[in-house]
Amino acid sequence: MAVIALCSASGSPGVTTSAIGLAMCWSRPVLLVEADPSGSSGILAGFFGGTHEYEAGLVELSYSPLEISDALRDVVRPLAGNVSFIAGTRSHTQAVGLRDLWGRLSTALENLESTGQDVIVDAGRLGLPGSPEALISLSDLTLLVSRTHLPALMGARSWAEQLKGAASSWQQPGMLLVGEGQPYNAREVTKVLGLSVIASISDDAASAAVYHRAASPHRKFATSPFIRSLRAAAGAIQQTIARRRDDLVREVTS
Ligand SMILES: Nc1ncnc2c1ncn2[C@@H]1O[C@H](COP(=O)(O)OP(=O)(O)OP(=O)(O)O)[C@@H](O)[C@H]1O
Ligand SMILES: [Mg+2]
Repeated sequence: MAVIALCSASGSPGVTTSAIGLAMCWSRPVLLVEADPSGSSGILAGFFGGTHEYEAGLVELSYSPLEISDALRDVVRPLAGNVSFIAGTRSHTQAVGLRDLWGRLSTALENLESTGQDVIVDAGRLGLPGSPEALISLSDLTLLVSRTHLPALMGARSWAEQLKGAASSWQQPGMLLVGEGQPYNAREVTKVLGLSVIASISDDAASAAVYHRAASPHRKFATSPFIRSLRAAAGAIQQTIARRRDDLVREVTS
């Protein structure tokens, strides 16, 4: 049971699509939290194609007089199968008002462990006003999502420097590549940025559009490189978290 945050440094590499895709391919029940401060509504407008009304989300959670774990239950909505979600803000101005929510939410999400759920957070672009910083740094694994071309790597470089530094508050940073080999591969990206590449998602525009904007799935969607890479990435993420937990236990007990 773990909290995994996805974020980006620049461009729109596919954070939201990958977060939704990972949740859809997750092997256990999973809660998707739309914490992107831009208010872009990747789930209601994107995944559901505007067919579902906004009912409640992070704003209602923030202002609820209830204990956060009780309030959480009131704002979670079903997405599909074993996946549920909390809708994000509907404008970038609302996100700034959630400053006090992220730390409390992080604690409540950790407590979801008892319900057997993992959590995937779409944290949007780093450094924006309203960025869910406490949630990002307290996650078990935070994945910087990036394409592998030079402008994307340049955009990621300053964040990578900061994350590698001793002052970084992130528990465990890693990279999730979209379109590995276009042109650089995982080994080259790790060498340049100094962050481990945990997994790669195939560059597959037609399949990605299904989760990004409710496009109709094509005939081979279920066996597409996109879906296969998401399944592999979900497995690699779970293994990475399990390994780190084992290491921490060994450290404490040795
Ligand atoms: N694996 C992929 N292969 C091909 N295209 C993709 C992939 N993932 C996402 N895309 C496409 O990239 C574009 C941006 O995707 P998405 O909105 O998920 O990115 P983002 O990083 O969340 O952007 P933003 O910073 O605006 O929130 C969309 O057109 C989407 O369909
Ligand atoms: Mg997004």
